[in-house]
Amino acid sequence: MPVASCGLGWPDGPLSESPSGVGWPEMGVSRQRIPGTGMPLVERMAIVTQTPLNPGDSPLVREALSSVVSRETSATQTATQQGETSGGGEGAWPRPSKCRVIAVANQKGGVGKTTTSVNIAAALSMNGQRVLVVDLDPQGNASTALATEHRGDVPDVYQVLVDDLPMADIVKQVPDMPGLYCAPATIDLAGAEIELVSLVAREARLRRALNAYSALDLDYIIIDCPPSLGLLTVNALVAADEVMIPIQCEYYALEGLGQLLRNVDLIKAHLNPTLRLSTIVLTMYDGRTRLASQVAEEVRAHFGDTVLNTVIPRSVRLSEAPSYGQSVMTYDPGSSGAMAYMDAAREIAHRALV
Ligand SMILES: Nc1ncnc2c1ncn2[C@@H]1O[C@H](COP(=O)(O)OP(=O)(O)OP(=O)(O)O)[C@@H](O)[C@H]1O
Ligand SMILES: [Mg+2]
Repeated sequence: MPVASCGLGWPDGPLSESPSGVGWPEMGVSRQRIPGTGMPLVERMAIVTQTPLNPGDSPLVREALSSVVSRETSATQTATQQGETSGGGEGAWPRPSKCRVIAVANQKGGVGKTTTSVNIAAALSMNGQRVLVVDLDPQGNASTALATEHRGDVPDVYQVLVDDLPMADIVKQVPDMPGLYCAPATIDLAGAEIELVSLVAREARLRRALNAYSALDLDYIIIDCPPSLGLLTVNALVAADEVMIPIQCEYYALEGLGQLLRNVDLIKAHLNPTLRLSTIVLTMYDGRTRLASQVAEEVRAHFGDTVLNTVIPRSVRLSEAPSYGQSVMTYDPGSSGAMAYMDAAREIAHRALV
């Protein structure tokens, strides 16, 4: 697809590979949920601080107590929306006739690949779909966000790709999320880029592993790619039917996109004829800036219907959720980020694969 240069960082510039991820997720954080609701304990703490007002409390005390809840969603709202986002009232979303394998790719770092993978997957699973997230990034951010162990000797995607371990030996169910599964990545995966080079059918190792894996009757496999165009991303694109590209609504957002699209075309021509760019999702949209709307307009002008109508706003809840080992869909379901990802997932589920 021809891509013109319009002063917004359209292709031609050098690749940007600046992996992000704080990596301090688990200290001092409770992942406990209220039994039967999936509601995080932190939400319950908010409810507790809100309710017991004594008749003798002064208005000032009452105001102080109620302001303890600083979330975007109030606790009561959360409880209601928990019901809504679980599919209540809307009816089940259509299950695809065959499992859709979607690679979430962009070699630019920090554009929202992992946030998109995890939250779309969670939203789909909350609406009756059976979803596996394959963490193909040695940073292991998707595994962290899905509370799936990925440190030490845990069997991971590396062993599937390099040692031919069956997928079934590494896939774990995500805690408190029925229908959502994760194939974790440990730091070992960093070595795979080099070790794969000398292996037979090095570009198709993930496809082979996924084809041999039928245990879960899956509707979606979502592959969270690393910020590079190396053999790991090539494996994802060979295994996938669809590519989803998150584009951050910022300056330089489109830099490197031409190269990614050329790679998709090359893989389509030589290794995976059914691969197609099915979805572009605009992330980290800040409605207050003119630049964000300029980028969004530009992307829509070039990619048309491939771009989801839903735009993902900047939302602090989205960046907080992983440190609680949760998607934002359970961490703060009424936040703008959660509602946007729910809408984005709904669009994806209703888009037929041509
Ligand atoms: N819509 C959003 N609003 C606010 N923060 C966001 C949003 N989307 C992502 N973030 C934050 O931006 C950072 C980068 O996001 P993310 O890790 O999803 O990007 P990535 O493309 O997977 O990065 P990498 O290339 O390192 O794998 C993270 O700290 C994430 O929490
Ligand atoms: Mg990532």
